[in-house]
Amino acid sequence: MRKTIIAGNWKMNKTNADAVAMLTELKAAVAGVENVGIVIGAPFTALSDAVKAVEGSNIKIAAQNMYPKASGAYTGEVSPEMLKAIGVEYVILGHSERREYFHETDAFINEKVKCALSYGLTPILCVGEKLEDREAGRTDLVNETQVKGGLAGLTKEEAVKVVVAYEPVWAIGTGKTATPEIAEETHKAIRKVLAEMFGAEAAEEITIQYGGSVKADNAKDLLAQADIDGGLVGGASLEAESFAKIVKAGM
Ligand code: 13P
Repeated sequence: MRKTIIAGNWKMNKTNADAVAMLTELKAAVAGVENVGIVIGAPFTALSDAVKAVEGSNIKIAAQNMYPKASGAYTGEVSPEMLKAIGVEYVILGHSERREYFHETDAFINEKVKCALSYGLTPILCVGEKLEDREAGRTDLVNETQVKGGLAGLTKEEAVKVVVAYEPVWAIGTGKTATPEIAEETHKAIRKVLAEMFGAEAAEEITIQYGGSVKADNAKDLLAQADIDGGLVGGASLEAESFAKIVKAGM
């Protein structure tokens, strides 16, 4: 049975003090929640303090990116070895903002996914179509290309460790959530691609999150869909109260 995972993506927000304050509040708000995985993606600078702040709780910490090498002459980059060493367990990869502003390709994201897995980090692979893709009827094709590209060369055993996040670009930060029906249709199509790649049994085990204007008041309807197994939450993950409500909608 696949696990429901609610992850927050803070993006480029929060100083260390802000991060620790939010996590301290969140810890209390979600204490006792056992059947939902809870993850917070903090900026690199706050990761170490974030890990310490959630110690002994049910909250795990994610990085929002990494470079796919152990170490070396890559000025300004952060390696999976460094993330592991401080207790980070997840890493968000291939977010649409990285694809758009930093020109990340499926091949590069695939390198990162494989490298993260080899270090025991759980990748959250983001995929999703732009508005023009949806309007041109290319939604499934775009997601298929990104899923196949991002997960190329993985074994079935590796694939079941990955979390996929479907984030339609037109729904990110816009307040325009995909309706539960539209999101479910795309999640189903993504699971079909996973089944083609890794077999039906593995595809059933893979958590597929929905992301894009998830809020406390729409989370329950989205999470009630058969193929929506969690959420990747931007804006509403910045405050403990709203994020805790979304977590509880997944219970
Ligand atoms: P919003 O929830 O702010 O739309 O952001 C979604 C997102 O990009 C999470 O990765």
